[in-house]
Order: sequence, then C-alpha cells, then structure tokens
Amino acid sequence: MDKLDLADPGLYLSGVPYDYFRWLRDNEPVAWHDEATGSGYWVITRYDDVVSANRDWRRYSNALRGAMLEDPASEAELAVRRMIFVNQDPPLHSRTRKLVSPAFTPGRIRVLTERIEAMCAQLVDRLLLGEVVDFARIGEELSFQMVASMFGVPEADWTMILDWTLRITNFQEPELNPALAPRAQLQVVALDYARSLIAEVRRNPDRHGGIVGDLVRSEVAKDDGGSDRLSDDELATFFLVVVVGGVGTTAHTLSEAVRAMGERPDIFDPYHRAGECPPAVIEELIRWGGPVMNFRRSATEDHELRGAQIRAGDKVLLSFSSANRDERQFAQPETFDAGRNPNDHVGFGGGGPHFCIGAQLARLDLRLMMREMFRRVERVELAGEPVRLRSNQFAGWLHLPVRMTAR
Ligand code: HEM
Repeated sequence: MDKLDLADPGLYLSGVPYDYFRWLRDNEPVAWHDEATGSGYWVITRYDDVVSANRDWRRYSNALRGAMLEDPASEAELAVRRMIFVNQDPPLHSRTRKLVSPAFTPGRIRVLTERIEAMCAQLVDRLLLGEVVDFARIGEELSFQMVASMFGVPEADWTMILDWTLRITNFQEPELNPALAPRAQLQVVALDYARSLIAEVRRNPDRHGGIVGDLVRSEVAKDDGGSDRLSDDELATFFLVVVVGGVGTTAHTLSEAVRAMGERPDIFDPYHRAGECPPAVIEELIRWGGPVMNFRRSATEDHELRGAQIRAGDKVLLSFSSANRDERQFAQPETFDAGRNPNDHVGFGGGGPHFCIGAQLARLDLRLMMREMFRRVERVELAGEPVRLRSNQFAGWLHLPVRMTAR
C-alpha cells in the first residue's frame, strides 16, 4: 500500500485514516514515512508498542526535539518549547509536574462540579431554542469556561483568551489562522498576557483566587529540605499548555458525541433513556473517537523495534488513534461499546510521565454535559454539512451544525 502523508493536516479533512492504520498494524507496525519538509518519521501503530514507548521516556524523549510533529524552526525556538513541561523529560519534567499538580487535585476538581453543572444547564437552554446551532462553538465555550474559571482568569479577558487559544491550538486551520502563521509566533501574545497576569497577581495577591493565585503563592518542599517554586516564565508556559491542551480536546470529544447522537442515536440508547451518563460511556467515547491522534517523541539511541532500525535522533510518532483501534487489544474496535471491561485505552496517553494531567477534569466536564443532554434533549438532527478540522494532531470538528429538540 502507498504511504499516506500523515503530516499533511489536509489528510484529516476526510476523517482519521483508520483503515490505513489497520493496514500498518498488520503489515508494518513501525513504519517509516517520508516528509515533504523535515527528516521523515517512524509511526508506531500497535497498542502494546505505543504503551511501551510512551512509558520508556529514556529511549523516547519529549525534550530532544519537542513533542510536536513539526520540527522547531531553530535552537532558540526549541529552547522556548522546552520551557513547556510537555516538552521536558524527567527529572526536570517530574519537578515541574510536582509544582503544578496542586492545580489538579481531586478536591479542587470536585468543587468545580456545581459550576460546571450550571454552565451545562445554560448551554443546553441555548441548544433548545429551536435554532440551528454550531455545536463546535458550544463545546469550545464549555471547555474554555471551565479552564478559565478554574484558573481564576478575569472574565473581562475571556473572549480575547478564547480567541488566541483557538488560533494556537488550530494553527493549521486557515479559517482561524488565515496567514498560517507558525505556532511559535501565535504563542507570543498568549505568553505576554500570561506574564502580565502573573505580575498583577504578584502585586495584588489577595485579590486573586483560582490556580494562578495558588501557584504564584505556592512553594513545594524539596527532598533536601529546601523549597522550590515555579518561575514566572514557567507559570506563563503552564497557563499556555493548559488552555491549549484543555479546550480543543474536550470540545472535540463533545462534538464527536453529539454527531453520534445525530447519526447513530442507538449507541447511547440505554443512557439516554435513563438520563444518566456513567463514566464508562466517557471512557469509550475517548477510545472510539478520541481527539488526540498522536504525540511525537525522538529516539535517544539506535535500536530495533519490530524489525525497524530506529536511529538516535529519529522522529517517532505514537499513534494513539491507531492503538485505540488495535484489534489485538480491543474486540471489535470499530464498535462503540460502553460495556467494555477493561477499557484500557490510550486516549489520555499510555501511562508514561506525560499522562494527561487534565484527564479527571475532562472526564467530569464530559460526563456532566452528556448527562444534561441525555436528560433534556430528545433528538439531535444534523442541520448541514459538518466540517472537519484541518489538523495533523487533533481529530475534531470545525463546524457541526445541529438542531436539537427538547424531551
Ligand atoms: C478529552 C479531553 C482530553 C484528551 C483526550 C487529552 C489527551 C491528552 C494526551 C493524549 C496527552 C499526552 C499524553 C502522553 O504523551 O503520554 C495529554 C497531555 C496533557 N494534557 Fe490532556 N487531554 C484532554 C483534556 C485536557 C484538559 C481538560 C487539560 C487541562 C485542563 C489537559 C492538559 C494536558 C496537559 C497540560 C498535558 C501535558 C502533560 C505533561 O506533559 O506532563 N488535557 N492530554
């Protein structure tokens, strides 16, 4: 079979190439792909291999050239990327992750429940006005409001922040980034904003709640008895990676669910009838239609994997989309089946040090919104041609026009 250009964001306008991934898993589970610009890359497609590589950070590094498929344009850009903890390896990554983890404690996420429930109720009110609504925007609004209120970002800045968040996340989509400016360039304005917010919190610490306030104030004990804190640059890049990592992903998952409610309502039938959304429904949604297709690593040493000779420095793509459809791990992987047990999908990562830090928050958000829809929406009708997002990393919807009818 001819190789597909998996780096081409346009490829995904017709959907995730699941058939191609199946072919790779069966015939070339570690497959070299040439790149029009760049050195080329290996793609790892089988579940077991993705999980092992995901955990083996010594051999498959995030820090060497960053975690994104596109290479950094310069060493200076690589240095900026490495300030973001998704582009770090242990032990530096472990330090940063420990310092930011107070933001994601179960207690902090639990207290958000009431707020998220209220947001979901308001959004469903709007969905039930009888008009055609672009659901892609509804999902973005919900996931953004959740992250923004958790952070304690001033509401007056929300529209602006959402605007640049979407542009950075979807930098390959001309509708949002008409000049196709590189991601690094788009990030400058976001980092400037984050630095000024942090400066303001430092000036007036008592006026600011939320994570930014807590992290600015927090110090973490070190093993040697001293204490450690995040620098302003580290705080700014943390802010960036959380809004960018949290908004599109959750929104795309919701859109995928709503599209399924429109096209294949039977798959949610028992939950819809009961007006409940058990956690297993969300896990299966993430496995079956998860939004994060891949992350990149770089090999740190020459080695062989399933006959492929991987060299130190080679770019390696972990295909979470493919691993989640691997029939060696999941029976009838194309079928949505919330009864799968176990359902050890890799939609949030394969259990390595970079496992999604926002997974609990995303699960809560998705469960509450799906429950609200199951309770109040009778029918979802697709009211126009859905348009997929142009992206080689996120599977999602740029537009999803729907009309919903109340129960
Ligand atoms: C359905 C929603 C989501 C999905 C499917 C998802 C998926 C992922 C995946 C696959 C990774 C990489 C794991 C790895 O390389 O091993 C990741 C990392 C990350 N995610 Fe999520 N994510 C979601 C929601 C969120 C939310 C809501 C937030 C924040 C509020 C968030 C913040 C992050 C961050 C900061 C990282 C980097 C962690 C690190 O490098 O240590 N994500 N996510």
